[in-house]
Amino acid sequence: MVAAKKLTALPDWAGSVAQPTPPLSKAVQQDNTLATKRQVTNLPPTVDPRVEYFLGQTPLLQSLKSGFGGPVHLLFPRIFRETAQDYINLLESFSLKHQIFFAKKANKAACFVQECARLGIGIDTASIEELVAALKGGVSPHLIGITGPAKNDRLLILALQQGCLLAIDALDELQRAASFARQLARPLRCLIRLRPDDQKKSRFGFSTDELPELWHQIDQLNQPQETIRMEGLSFHLSGYNTAERAAMAFTAISLLSELSPRFPYSRRINIGGGLPLSYASASAWQDFQASQSPDDFHGGKQFGGGFYPYHCETPGLDALRNILQTPNPAGKGDLASLLRAQDMELMLEPGRALLDQSGVTLFSVQGVKERKPEASKDGYSIITVDGTSFSLSEQWFDSEFLPDPRLLSSRKADCASTLPAPLFRAAIGGVSCLDSDMLSWRKIVFPRRPEVGDLLCYLNTAGYQMDSNESEFHGLPLPQKICLFLRNGVPAWCRDTDYCAVLAEDHSSWN
Ligand SMILES: Cc1ncc(COP(=O)(O)O)c(C=O)c1O
Repeated sequence: MVAAKKLTALPDWAGSVAQPTPPLSKAVQQDNTLATKRQVTNLPPTVDPRVEYFLGQTPLLQSLKSGFGGPVHLLFPRIFRETAQDYINLLESFSLKHQIFFAKKANKAACFVQECARLGIGIDTASIEELVAALKGGVSPHLIGITGPAKNDRLLILALQQGCLLAIDALDELQRAASFARQLARPLRCLIRLRPDDQKKSRFGFSTDELPELWHQIDQLNQPQETIRMEGLSFHLSGYNTAERAAMAFTAISLLSELSPRFPYSRRINIGGGLPLSYASASAWQDFQASQSPDDFHGGKQFGGGFYPYHCETPGLDALRNILQTPNPAGKGDLASLLRAQDMELMLEPGRALLDQSGVTLFSVQGVKERKPEASKDGYSIITVDGTSFSLSEQWFDSEFLPDPRLLSSRKADCASTLPAPLFRAAIGGVSCLDSDMLSWRKIVFPRRPEVGDLLCYLNTAGYQMDSNESEFHGLPLPQKICLFLRNGVPAWCRDTDYCAVLAEDHSSWN
């Protein structure tokens, strides 16, 4: 998605960019070191050239890895900044009133919040901790949204004190929030979260049937003086269907215009998150799906949660453009023109999409255990890395993060070698005592046998993968987060916690 455009924007120094590992499917067919002759297909991820540049800095990565110990999450806040700016530019190209709220839940790092503050982007939070992190990152309180069900009293009170925007999910929550608002003599700025009629299984939001009672309650609670300032309507749909999002946006617009006499200042429609990402090319994803079988996974593992669609024809910005250009089913024009005609503001809460290519996760190989062919039909090994699958969240949704991790050598000679090495097939386990602690159940084909001390890098992990489910299991410290950027054209780094000082320096450019 980004590669073609960003390549042209790369400065001269990027000439040293490391070349990605070539797709391996064909090579595996030719390889006779594997016990099986069945074709095994890897899933090479799409990697942004800016990320490739940093992956090529092996000595820097090695020293960060050994200096901080354990797995390390590398963050690229400048890539995040450029992606976010692309979204702002797109919304402006449609001449829309708009406000983006970055869904904080997708990554805990401070640097992304600070970039949002710099860009005037809001933050979507769902806990007091996330709200405090947004305030700490310098985001204006009125640009902080609070979503999530049955918000606790502390969260409601702090949000009201700060003037944040609450997405109200239930009647009792509205009553509680209104009562605090009265006590604090603060307006309750809110959106009403809708539950689409076709999402009956969802536990969030108000169904259409519940709305008349809700409007009545708001009128009551606004007596004798106005406490609740209902700024508009919101929804967040599960899945990634752009047509469903556009259809729901049309519904919300028509509802809001009907409500106009009652709530004249309600002019905001929040379409939530769920803009899809593409992690791999169409052909890579297609080949992978066509070839895989349970035998390709350690222990014949199968996943009840299915897999994320790792390729998407219209990811991110294109998905948003499609939503905005969806024809109005009840008249002329499209969604964008209807929003303009109604003088309504479009709000959105992307998480994953804003984090595209903004982080990778580095592990070290800690052991390589051969499995004798008798233990399995086809020989393979288990690589154990120096962290756990808690740092790669997909496993916790009964699924797997499928894009191939990259083996980065720790040995200079190996980097320079042009001799073909025998291919090597291995699943990847975590260092814990849990049998289920597997980062990749899939038996991945590597270009050579990994060695203890080699770096193993999972790519594009910033969106939900790296830290949603991390824990200090076994007393292991949480992995460090390190920001990588350029200072005067030279690769530089700082801890995520220190990124605000770097921002203040404002060495802001990639060229
Ligand atoms: C209310 C709400 N908004 C936004 C998001 C972000 O979704 P995504 O990261 O898919 O854009 C979520 C994700 O669960 C959510 O629940």
